[in-house]
Amino acid sequence: MYFDPGVKERREDFFNFNEELNTLIKELNNQSTRMIVIKGVRRTGKSSLIRVGLSMSGLPHVILDARKFEYFSVDTFYDMLASSLSKLLETRKSVSKYLKSVKGVSISGLTLEFSFRGSWTFTEVLEALNKWGEECGEPIVLAFDEAQDFLIFPRFDSLLAHVYDYLSYVKLVLAGSEVGLLDRLLGVKKVKAPLSGRPYTTIVMKRLSREEAIEFLREGFRQAGVTINEVFLEDAVSVFDGVIGWLTYYGYQALRVGHEEAITKTLEEGSKLVQEELENFLSIRPQARTRYLTILKLLTTPLTWSEVKAGLSAKLKKTISDKQLTHYLRELVNYGFVEKINSEYVIADPVLKSAARGLRI
Ligand SMILES: Nc1ncnc2c1ncn2[C@@H]1O[C@H](COP(=O)(O)OP(=O)(O)OP(=O)(O)O)[C@@H](O)[C@H]1O
Ligand SMILES: [Mg+2]
Repeated sequence: MYFDPGVKERREDFFNFNEELNTLIKELNNQSTRMIVIKGVRRTGKSSLIRVGLSMSGLPHVILDARKFEYFSVDTFYDMLASSLSKLLETRKSVSKYLKSVKGVSISGLTLEFSFRGSWTFTEVLEALNKWGEECGEPIVLAFDEAQDFLIFPRFDSLLAHVYDYLSYVKLVLAGSEVGLLDRLLGVKKVKAPLSGRPYTTIVMKRLSREEAIEFLREGFRQAGVTINEVFLEDAVSVFDGVIGWLTYYGYQALRVGHEEAITKTLEEGSKLVQEELENFLSIRPQARTRYLTILKLLTTPLTWSEVKAGLSAKLKKTISDKQLTHYLRELVNYGFVEKINSEYVIADPVLKSAARGLRI
């Protein structure tokens, strides 16, 4: 069902995105592809694409999702790894022998645990998976969802480069919504970065067009056996644009509380979520908080760099240097809050846009 709010795993619950899905599956099966990168602003379906694509490919895989835990640490990382590897054991029992050889790994039945979490443990696990892949003649896919968040681990990019260069039976998939940070991880602008210069395939998750968004909603209601007024569909798409995550949540709510309340609820719940994401960003930039919020409030309508500068200086009643403004805008783009389209900047997400309009600074 399209309106199930969780991350999608099955093709029949996953609307369209045929091109992206075909590319993913083709590249997963292409022996010479070492790494696939999935980019897209928040709630465009990256996590669902990974899961549906991997399940359709039939390849063994391990998915590590940084957003699964509220507090991300070495311990939660190993808990997540243990649960992903246990899941792998369900379908590929023969991997057990290889994983058991890693110091600190214990397996009972189909449950894997780490009794020891040393600095090389993860690398040793990857080496064991690679050996197993080589033995079976089949690659194993290692997917990092919200890959940029793993940068909190020292030398994470070097580890990926090691996998890329030496573990040829481990194929990498990296997904992320904070495009600038993902580029930093990939070493896009820094030749000395560990992953720099290594080729990969990029898949960009786009928002749905207006027609696609309406079709998605129409089909979602049809699956639930509900006939809905076309005007409501138009209305929902004007509020939530083509962001499939918000449209799904709206559909889920509309089936329960009706159209109008579903719009209000999605905006309310969504605002809480986007404000939390924004607070995480602002909490490590306390001195510039007012400036960032003022910029966001201005960017509820698309503006050029000079227009932002004029607007910000007028609101704060002081001049902001060109260098500072460029830095603020770059950070907002890097973290996926703002998009630059041609020469204009604008808030990427319709719910954040609506929350920013109501900001009291
Ligand atoms: N193609 C699709 N068909 C049906 N529902 C979808 C599709 N893509 C995403 N969704 C729904 O949209 C929501 C967001 O999807 P998902 O978590 O996969 O996106 P994401 O880009 O990983 O989001 P985030 O940036 O929050 O991690 C989920 O409720 C999911 O069920
Ligand atoms: Mg996701």
